[in-house]
Amino acid sequence: MTQKISVIGAGLMGSGIAQALAMGSKSVKLYDISQDAMDKGMAMIRKSLSRFVRAGHITEDQSGATLERIQATLNLQDACRDVDLIVEAIPENMELKQKVFAEMDQYAAAHTVFATNTSELSVTAIASATKRPEKVIGMHWFNPAPVMKLIEIVRGTDTSQKTVDLIRRVSEEIGKETVLVEDRQGFVTSRALAAHILECMRIYEEGVASKEDIDKAIRLGLNYPMGPLELADYVGLDTLLFASEGMVEAYGDRFRPPQILRKLVEAGHFGIKTGKGFYDY
Ligand code: 3HC
Repeated sequence: MTQKISVIGAGLMGSGIAQALAMGSKSVKLYDISQDAMDKGMAMIRKSLSRFVRAGHITEDQSGATLERIQATLNLQDACRDVDLIVEAIPENMELKQKVFAEMDQYAAAHTVFATNTSELSVTAIASATKRPEKVIGMHWFNPAPVMKLIEIVRGTDTSQKTVDLIRRVSEEIGKETVLVEDRQGFVTSRALAAHILECMRIYEEGVASKEDIDKAIRLGLNYPMGPLELADYVGLDTLLFASEGMVEAYGDRFRPPQILRKLVEAGHFGIKTGKGFYDY
């Protein structure tokens, strides 16, 4: 059983992943570069756990035990030591990811598997920064990670079956469902999400309906939990712009980012995280 896991990056996704693993009884080391980032990550975990307690899904004691299973560290070497699996959730920048994976490769034991939570970068290219490409894999989580059921497993060119099996097992042990996809731009989920959201932004730009009515139409008419424009704010407009640019390269014009998306990002309005996007927060 894979019991000891490290999570690299305590941002929105990293902290949620650490929480989901700890709620699944895993012993977790959570790493970030600064105390400030770590404090914010731990605050998000405490807030989310209290929502679970309020909703009656877990008890106060279980919430406390979950927190005790998460050990914070600001030292990458320490984070990589004595763990079976490392899940990386740092910003979506290939150069940065390759640099961190090369460092992890030096510090971690030979058997340790490396998973990246990238939503659309090449898992194969990230793996190439290490001397263990067969042990590198995509483990794509969804926000909010402790709530969302799916893990999208992404098999890089050299990823071994043993590595796929380990990620599938860990995911099941913490109560998640999995799908297995090949390492192609945007995998299944990011590609489908971008197609949906970008088209709805174009509908808005064309003045077909107000943003509120577009969101209401998709929520109530198609039964999505969130409308596309509120979901865009939730995911982050900067993230969506970056993802769509990568997909233009792979699939052509149908993923070209609408002007409205580019302008909001240029203005620094990234959605919920900056307090303004399609909506104000
Ligand atoms: N922590 C703990 N519990 C949470 C939570 C969190 N962060 N967020 C929501 N919940 C719980 C609530 O407490 C509530 O519990 P209850 O039903 O037992 O009382 C339940 O989830 C539902 O929450 P709400 O009633 O507040 O609101 P919703 O019913 O709208 O659910 C949602 C919230 C689960 C976020 C839902 O709106 C949803 O599924 N939205 C779509 C999210 C989505 O598409 N995520 C994927 C984005 S893409 C991505 O992440 C990939 C990346 O690579 C870009």
